[in-house]
Amino acid sequence: MTLDASTQDKSDTRAKFTSFGESTKADWDNIMVQIETTQARVADRLIEQLEYLRHDYGGFPVNRLEHCLQTATRAERDGRDEEYILCALVHDIGDNLSPYNHAAVAAAIVEPAVSKANHWLVAHHGIFQGYFFWQHIGLDPNARDNFRDSEYFDYTAEFCAKYDQVAFDPDYKSAPLEHFEPIIRKFFAPRDRTGEKIN
Ligand SMILES: [Fe+2]
Ligand SMILES: [Fe+2]
Repeated sequence: MTLDASTQDKSDTRAKFTSFGESTKADWDNIMVQIETTQARVADRLIEQLEYLRHDYGGFPVNRLEHCLQTATRAERDGRDEEYILCALVHDIGDNLSPYNHAAVAAAIVEPAVSKANHWLVAHHGIFQGYFFWQHIGLDPNARDNFRDSEYFDYTAEFCAKYDQVAFDPDYKSAPLEHFEPIIRKFFAPRDRTGEKIN
C-alpha cells in the first residue's frame, strides 16, 4: 500500500533533530499539532484495517470481515446502542495483526472512545469465546470462570453467546461495512489530547 498525499507530512514542517535530547519546544509545538491530524485519520485507518480482513478466512466459513459485520449486524438488529455496535464491529480488528492477542489490540483501540464495560467486553471476549470451542484445541473452555467476580462477566458472556460465536453463518445477510462507517467516524472523531472533540 502507498500513502496518498493527504497522509504524508509536508517536509517543511519536519523537525531537524536526530535525537529527542536535542529537540526544542518549537519542534514539539509543531509535532503536537500534527498528532491531532494523525488522530483525526484514525477512523479512515480503522476502516482500512477492517478491509484487510475481507480477504482472510483462516479456515472459517466466512471471512474475518464478514464475521465482524455479522456480529455488529446481529447486535444492531437486537436493538443494541451505537457504542455496543461499534465494539461488535471492531472486536476482531486485531485478528491479522496479533492473532494470539487480538482482543487486546481491539481493546486498546476502543478504550478512549467507549465505556469501561464495553472496553472490558472487548478485552475479554477471546477468553469468553473459548467457552464454545476451547475443548477442541486443548484449552479449558471454562477459563472465563476466572472472571466470575467481574461485574462485566454476564455482559461479556452475553455478547459472545448472542452475537460473536453465532456470527459464522454464510447465509446471514449482514449489513455492509459502509453501513457502519458513520458509527466509526462518530466515535473516532478528531480529538485533542484531552479527549475533546475538535474539527
Ligand atoms: Fe475474537
Ligand atoms: Fe469474533
